[in-house]
Amino acid sequence: MVEILPSVLSLDYSDTKKYLDLIKETCKVIHFDVMDGHFVNNLSFGPDIMKAFKNYTNLVMDVHIMVTNPKKVSDIFINAGADIITFHYEALESETEIIDLAHKIKNNNIKAGISIKPNTPVSKITNLLKYFDLVLVMSVEPGLGGQGFIESSLEKIIELKELKNKYNYNYIIEIDGGINDTTVKRVKEAGCEWLVSGSYLFKGDFKEKVKKLLEL
Ligand code: DX5
Ligand code: ZN
Repeated sequence: MVEILPSVLSLDYSDTKKYLDLIKETCKVIHFDVMDGHFVNNLSFGPDIMKAFKNYTNLVMDVHIMVTNPKKVSDIFINAGADIITFHYEALESETEIIDLAHKIKNNNIKAGISIKPNTPVSKITNLLKYFDLVLVMSVEPGLGGQGFIESSLEKIIELKELKNKYNYNYIIEIDGGINDTTVKRVKEAGCEWLVSGSYLFKGDFKEKVKKLLEL
């Protein structure tokens, strides 16, 4: 089942309520990018904004933490009521740390996701897939909206889909970066289920654009 997840990084914050109303009428899940100015150059939002968005909309909060200290930041978003927390493979040193953090998130009844940057191959996380509810393929370098789609991400989606089928894993396959009316079809054909979109959705008629991404 394909879902379109608006990335609120691209929202016009001078008109937040208008956009939250549009999102809740159109989508089920919202993608919330947390950036710390270390793991990526950009700084974005903290837990209070997420809480406010969740209280106002009841949307499922898909929290993508692009941070160097995912253990600490996960705690913050566990306490804030996130529904899904996805951290980066590249941010932790060992598989043990990664597995421990996945367990900790899931022990709080929150779904755990792992994300890989464009230069990280799927082979790095093959042993870890069974611990996760979601795998997020970054199809741009994390840190900024509005970048061009990296084509090699399609092979990663196909690989993740094959591994999922082969081992009967349950994870959702998600993609983030450069999703628009020219890339969406190939991403769906590759087997991706959750598609994050920011700059494309928030320029122009939001509802029409979500519809178009679903139809294409
Ligand atoms: C990038 C973020 C994305 C970003 C996607 O680091 O994780 O969620 O907002 O934006 P677009 O759709 O503009 O590439
Ligand atoms: Zn993201």
